[in-house]
Amino acid sequence: MRAKSLLIHNASQIITMHGNNEKPRTGEAMRDIGLIEGKGQIVAVIDGNIAGIGTETQIREMLKEAGIKIEELQVIDADGKTVMPGLVDPHTHIVFGGSREYELELRMNGATYLEILAKGGGILSSTRHTREASEDELARQTTERLDKFLKHGVTTVEAKSGYGLTLEDELKQLRVAKRLDAKHPVDIVSTFMAAHAVPPEYKEDPEAYITLIIEEMLPRVAQEQLAVFNDVFCEHGVFTVEQSERILEAGKKHGLIPKIHADEIEPMGGAELAAKVGAISADHLLKASDEGIHAMAEAGVVATLLPGTAFFLMAEYARARHMIDAGAAVALSTDRNPGSSPTENLQLIMNLAVLNMKMTPTEVITATTINAAHAIGMADRVGSLEVGKQADIVIMDVPNYQFLTYNFGVNHAHTVIKKGEVVVKGGQLCYGR
Ligand code: NIG
Ligand code: FE
Repeated sequence: MRAKSLLIHNASQIITMHGNNEKPRTGEAMRDIGLIEGKGQIVAVIDGNIAGIGTETQIREMLKEAGIKIEELQVIDADGKTVMPGLVDPHTHIVFGGSREYELELRMNGATYLEILAKGGGILSSTRHTREASEDELARQTTERLDKFLKHGVTTVEAKSGYGLTLEDELKQLRVAKRLDAKHPVDIVSTFMAAHAVPPEYKEDPEAYITLIIEEMLPRVAQEQLAVFNDVFCEHGVFTVEQSERILEAGKKHGLIPKIHADEIEPMGGAELAAKVGAISADHLLKASDEGIHAMAEAGVVATLLPGTAFFLMAEYARARHMIDAGAAVALSTDRNPGSSPTENLQLIMNLAVLNMKMTPTEVITATTINAAHAIGMADRVGSLEVGKQADIVIMDVPNYQFLTYNFGVNHAHTVIKKGEVVVKGGQLCYGR
């Protein structure tokens, strides 16, 4: 059998996301998922990439031209299920030590997320556990999270640092992500985010911490090629708009592309800042202003929305409908982290986006495939089933795309294929076996 090469036939529907994918999709294009009825259609994968989608005659012809015998290929019977691109999660904080389930109880007793953080809990509690953990221990914990993502059909994630908050501990987190990117089937794109919180040792002098980020951490991360993006938590009591801008501009000088946690809890002008610095995405945006949304749409900044966080913090959801109608490109993500969204289930996020942010089932598919890929600069490789792209494919156990966001709270991923290899079969992990 030829490695990383296979044929998928007998699907009920195939979501290709075929179309103009040069730029993140906006408006009507967000509702076009390149849907084809599966009957009589075959998805062909050769050497880890998508080689074609067509009828048996077309695929046989294509293989003949390529000098490949059809008998060399593994055949997967999709058995009336729906075939789609592997899901992409463009915003996670998966490399961290420990967990914070007790904070949910504190919140139910009246404490707010920012109050817990101000008392040294929240992000700072995860920071203590992350500093204590060895690189191996962090890799072990992160692998468990990546496995859960993979089981849910997520084949690419972005991962941020930001629980180390010292040079060495930030590098440790980024090294774990780099190591797992090489080792685990899920592709990991890294973001440096030392500007996630001001660590306790700089509580009295946050400016000195910003200087440390700008003068020591950023150059080192860039030099070791440990991250593609640079992110800041621009929030009341964390980093101001002015401080965020300085950190993002400094990152640009080292080739790191800006991202920003914008207008999550308080309206801060984070969306406006994202447009100003030319960020690839602005994320959260629960409290983004009309002007900010307009500026983002104009500047082509992807609005990455995280409805799991609104759900878990019991906050008002971001205005996705307004954003899409205003011409902004929307992507969706779990925001997987230990405090405000502890879930790897991106399918549930899709459901929350439909029910609570009034996105259509087709828009949420775009937002978790091609637009999510654009939000992390990966749209040339993932996010659609197009010839030449990585064969990252999920066979969802649903008869049609609408069923995906209808039968909610359930993991529909049946078979997951990463770069042409079956890594999840019958809902169970099977990679490396
Ligand atoms: O994206 N907003 C800031 N950072 C994370 C939460 C991190 C945490 O609570 O540990 C977020 O929601
Ligand atoms: Fe986040």
